[in-house]
Amino acid sequence: MDAMEVILTRRSVRKYKTKKQLSKESINNLLEAAMSAPSAGNEQPWHFVVIDDPNILSEVPTFHNHAQMLKNASIAILVCGDLNLEKHKDMWIQDCSAATQNLLLAIRAKNLGAVWLGIFPREQRLKGMKKLLNLPEKVIPFSLVSIGNPAEKQEKINRFNPSRVHYNKW
Ligand SMILES: Cc1cc2nc3c(=O)[nH]c(=O)nc-3n(C[C@H](O)[C@H](O)[C@H](O)COP(=O)(O)O)c2cc1C
Repeated sequence: MDAMEVILTRRSVRKYKTKKQLSKESINNLLEAAMSAPSAGNEQPWHFVVIDDPNILSEVPTFHNHAQMLKNASIAILVCGDLNLEKHKDMWIQDCSAATQNLLLAIRAKNLGAVWLGIFPREQRLKGMKKLLNLPEKVIPFSLVSIGNPAEKQEKINRFNPSRVHYNKW
C-alpha cells in the first residue's frame, strides 16, 4: 500500500476478530511512527502508555461512553501530553493530534484496525484515565487508540468537498 492508499482507506474500526498478540517489535514500530510526528519547535511532548491487560481495557467504558470496543481490542495505546516537556504553550494538543494520526496510519499500513477515542478535554474521561493508570499530575491523557484484528473492511470514502476549498481569500 502506498501512502495515499493508507490515508484514503483508513477507517475507524470498532469490531475486532479474536485477540491477536502483537509482538514487541510491531508495537515499537507503531510507536516509532507516532514519535515521528511533527511537533512545535520539535518539543516532542508525548508519552505513550501501551495497555495490553484486558482487565484495564475493560475498565475504560465505565467512564467513557463510546469505548465499548476496548473489550475486544488486542491492545490500546494512550497518547499523553507531558506539560513538563512543553516549550510552546498549549501546542502539545496539536503535537499529540499529529502523533495520534501517525499512529492510526501506521496501524492501517500493517492491516490492523483502530479507532481514535477522544479523552482530552472531557473532564470525566481525563479523571478516569488518570486514576486508572496512575498518571502524574502534569501528564494529560489526550487520546486512546483502540487496536485489534479488524473484523470490518476499511474502504475508501470520498470526502473531497470543493466548497471547503479557498484560494488566496475566502
Ligand atoms: C477527536 C476524536 C475523537 C473521537 N472519539 C471517538 C470515540 O470516543 N469513540 C469512537 O467510537 N470513535 C471516536 N472517534 C472516531 C470518529 O467517530 C471517526 O473518525 C469519524 O466518524 C470518521 O470516520 P472514519 O474514522 O472511519 O473516517 C473520534 C475521532 C476523533 C478525531
